[in-house]
Formats: sequence, C-alpha cells, structure tokens
Amino acid sequence: MTDRLGAGTTKAWGGRFATAPDARSEAFTSSITFDNRLVREDIRASVAHVRMLGRQGIVGPAEAAEIEEGLWCVWDEVEAGTFAFGLADEDIHTAVERRLRELIGPVQGKLHTARSRNDQVATDTRLWTKGAILELTAGVVELSRALLDVAAAHLDAVMPGYTHTQRAQPVIVAHHLLAYVAMLDRDLDRLRDAYRRLDVLPLGAGALAGVTFPIDRASVAADLGFAGITANSLDAVADRDYVLDVMHACALIALHISRLASELVSWSSGEFRFVELSDAFTTGSSIMPQKKNPDVAEIARGKTGRVFGHLIGTLTVVKGLPLTYNSDLQEDKEALFDTVDTVLGVLRVMPPVVQTMRFNRQRLAEAAVADFSLATDAADLLARNGVPFREAHEVVGRLVRLCLEDDITFADLSAEEWSTIHPVFANQRPPMTAWESVSARDVPGGTAPDRVKAAHADASAQVDAAREWFSERQEQLAAVMRRGSTGPRRQPVT
Ligand code: ARG
Repeated sequence: MTDRLGAGTTKAWGGRFATAPDARSEAFTSSITFDNRLVREDIRASVAHVRMLGRQGIVGPAEAAEIEEGLWCVWDEVEAGTFAFGLADEDIHTAVERRLRELIGPVQGKLHTARSRNDQVATDTRLWTKGAILELTAGVVELSRALLDVAAAHLDAVMPGYTHTQRAQPVIVAHHLLAYVAMLDRDLDRLRDAYRRLDVLPLGAGALAGVTFPIDRASVAADLGFAGITANSLDAVADRDYVLDVMHACALIALHISRLASELVSWSSGEFRFVELSDAFTTGSSIMPQKKNPDVAEIARGKTGRVFGHLIGTLTVVKGLPLTYNSDLQEDKEALFDTVDTVLGVLRVMPPVVQTMRFNRQRLAEAAVADFSLATDAADLLARNGVPFREAHEVVGRLVRLCLEDDITFADLSAEEWSTIHPVFANQRPPMTAWESVSARDVPGGTAPDRVKAAHADASAQVDAAREWFSERQEQLAAVMRRGSTGPRRQPVT
C-alpha cells in the first residue's frame, strides 16, 4: 500500500488522481481567465480566515502570521502587476495558494484548513459584489443628480404629456424628468436592499456541512465588514440569490435608462425637435453630411439586451440545481461581471448626455397645447358646474369633432359659439394655456408648479440620503480592502 502512495498530480486535489487532466478538460473547466477579478477579495478573505485560525489555535499563531504576511506579498504582486497565473491554476483561489506556496513553502498548506473553495468563492463573490453595488449606487446617484439639475432649470417650462404616444395633457418639463428620478430612486432602493441581503459571510460552511474545527465565524465576518453570517451551511454554498438580486437591480436600471434613451432619441428627431443633443454626445453619418445621430442614447438603450440576457442566463443556470454546490455555479461570474461593467458604462455616459442637451422651450410650449390637449380641462369645468363627467366628456368630445371638421382649435371659437356648446361656457371659459392647465392639477404627485417644486425637493433629499448611505459603506469597504487592513473593529450598522 505505502509504496503506491505516490505524488498524485500537481492539482490542489491531485492526490486522488493518477494522471494529469486532459488539456481540453483543463481549458474547459478553468475559470481563471475571468475569476482573476476576485483576486483581492480572495486574498483578503484568506487573511481574515488565517487570522481566525491563529486566534482559535487551529494553526499556530506564528504560522498564521507567516501565512498572512505571505498573502500580503501576493497582494503586493497583484498591485505591481507581477502576479502571474495560467490555465493550470484552475481558478483564482488555487492560483493564490500556488503562489503563496512558492513564496512561503509548505506551511501555506495550513491556510485551507476548515474551509472549502465552495464557501471561499461565495465569500469572495459577495465581497466583490458589495463593492459593485456601491459603485452602481454612485452611478445611479450621478444620473439622478443630472436629471434633478435639468429639472430645476425647467420648473417653468411645459411640454406635452403622452399616453399611447398621443398628446394627452400638458405637464411641466421638470415633472416629466422627475418621473425618471422616481424610477432611479426605486433602483437605489433595490441596490440597498440587495446589499443588505448579501451582507452575510458564508465562510465556515466548508464544502457544504460546516467544518470540524472550532472556528469563530462572527470574528471573520467582523474582520471582513460583513453584517452577519449565513444561517445554513448548505444554503451558504448553493445560494446565488445575491448575484441574481444585483442582476435584477441592474436589469431595471438598464430598462429605466432605455426608456429615457428612447425619449431622447425621439425628442431629438426632426419630427419632435424637443431637444438638441450636444455635438459631444452625438455622431455623424459616413454618407449623409447633414446627420446628427443620438448614438449614445441608442447604444445605452441597446445595452439593455445583454443585461437582460445575463439575468435570464443566470436564472437558468441556478434553476433546478440540486443542493448544494455544483460546478454550474461557476457560470455566474462572467454574467455578473459583464452586467456590472455594462451598467456602470451606461451610468457613466448618460449624466453628461442629459446635462448637455438643450430643450426647445418654444416648440415644447406649442406642442403642449396642440391636438386639443386641454380638452380634459374643458370637461372638468363642466363637471365642476354640476354636469356629470360622462356627459361633460361627451359635450367636449363633440366640440373637438366640430373643430376638427372646420380645421380650427378651441382658441378660434367666439363667445357665442362657446355658449351654444353648453350654457356653462356662457360665463366661464375653460383654460386656454398649458400653464393654467398644469396649475389646475394641484394634487400630491400632480404637475402643478408648486407640487413639482416640492417633489423636486423631496427627490433631491432622497438622492442625498442614498449618497450618504453609499459613502459610509464605501469608506468601510475601502478600510477592509486595504493592504494590512485589520477590518472594522465592531459590527457595522446596517
Ligand atoms: N471556480 C469555482 C467557482 O467559480 C470555485 C469553486 C470550486 N469548487 C469546487 N468544488 N470545484 O465556482
């Protein structure tokens, strides 16, 4: 027996294997080409783990210190860009260990006591995703701020509001822009929510069932700035909800921006001429000299496709997977990284697009009252005078038809004509300007000027709160992810 206890292969799991993996198998199963993005999180989590092993006497304190020092040396190589890895490293967790062994020798082997790559990868990914959520939050805050700035400059401008892409009722331009701020505010909330839920440490779950050593999970959580620890070891290694939560939040961010982008595309067209986009955020045509294309908005809208695709793809990867860890889960990372990169890219470019566009107030004001957009106001006037609204609707509808037949508008009607339409109109005339019309919609959430001003203030306060939430956590995470970090001393407040 003993003479058959040869060296195995060079893999981290090589002992059981008599021959090395086929090159095709190795290339196919390796995740190092993409999960190397987790290298800092991997090193930092290993530092927290080995410190705990030392504190608990699971490895000797001197050995723990030696391993920690070695890990920081690998960190330095990462920073210097000299940390090299290859396909044979399989994944980033193995690559870090391999390099550590080269630096400090066999004592490195003690680092993997009381843990598995299954709880390790979940820990690294959660740590990385915390940073990603904070960056996304900052990006959404920036876009909200840009919209709020433009809204502030257009509290006194009117535009047509639409249903069914038909002019419906006039609204204040700021009110329309604040609708997007409201969407983004929900996005901020979703990001915070995703953060709160993912802010628990899975390390200590081991491969799936927990570990046989007297570990102290809470202290590792505190070292890494997690608010708590996962409750069930099986769930800890099988769960990817935190990836899906962020992808879902990103999908809605992308969706909201695609709607904004679409409006910018329409508004900047010759058909609308509501806005002029800045030359700096548009492009020309290679053949048509006159063209100015809203490329940035179009591409921002187009990016939504891959973001949705990644969400559906990852939902499909996790769907029906038996507990607990399965290698299928390795497929989460490229989708997650690309989702975050894509949405951050969109969030980076959209604020200046919004800030530099110029509204054509004149054109907006004309369009706001065109196509009988004040017809509801006329019907409302009748209803205020006791006419049942359905009847008032009928009366004004007939009036619109007559005007259309004669190719005139409400403004062209004489006093006499008004009174023949309905006795109420003999003494009272319905609003004739968009400003009167919007002012009348004086309800919470409505487009009356003072309501919009108040809504702007509320929305600003909400964005400021999100910014504060972001910077507190950003500081805390930066403190964790610093070389030599000792981590937060006490549990962070969530
Ligand atoms: N590269 C793997 C992943 O990304 C790490 C976990 C591997 N665990 C395992 N038992 N093979 O999911």
